[in-house]
Amino acid sequence: MGILSIVLSYLIGAVSFSYLTGQLLKKLDIRDHGSGNAGATNTLRVLGIGPAIAVLLLDCGKGILAVWLGYLMSGGDPVISAGAGVAAVIGHNWPVFFGFRGGKGVATTIGVLATLVFWPALIAGTIAILSIVFTRYVSLGSLLFVIGTTVLTAALYNVFNYPFEYIYFLAGLTILSVWRHNENVKRLMKGTESKLGQKVKAT
Ligand code: G3P
Repeated sequence: MGILSIVLSYLIGAVSFSYLTGQLLKKLDIRDHGSGNAGATNTLRVLGIGPAIAVLLLDCGKGILAVWLGYLMSGGDPVISAGAGVAAVIGHNWPVFFGFRGGKGVATTIGVLATLVFWPALIAGTIAILSIVFTRYVSLGSLLFVIGTTVLTAALYNVFNYPFEYIYFLAGLTILSVWRHNENVKRLMKGTESKLGQKVKAT
């Protein structure tokens, strides 16, 4: 049942809400517009605030659902719960239903981390939101959130009694996130990354 929950979590993650919202509202492929990313930030650029909030919540919900599915179907195994969360992020990034062209997995990762390690995610999330408010770089905030949650969990897992194995899964999510933000990191270093509210051409 545990393995089945991992497969189901991948399939849940592979439901690309930004793509579906683009099709539903404007019959467009979100991946051909804005930054080309199938995610909430690009939905904000291309479709506006309402659809972006809906996509953010739905993508986040995929992560929450996956972790709970793993937990319930494995009889509370923390390794399967975390594995199911990672599977949902992989599904979001490489969705079988949409030609394996998905997003960067941040909203789904938020759902996974908030469910697995709430307090580190809350602290890192607060820092990330402040960084976005001050710099208007969503990608920078996204990376600060994922890296910050992982570092805080590794530093405090004894305090919060988290299973040690969580650290491996969180490190995996960090690697996935940095990998998917590779182009954003290059643009951040060159000072050409688009800011929140700024129009960009598809890459
Ligand atoms: O969550 C994705 C965000 O960090 C960056 O998105 O569209 O600016 O590449 P985008």
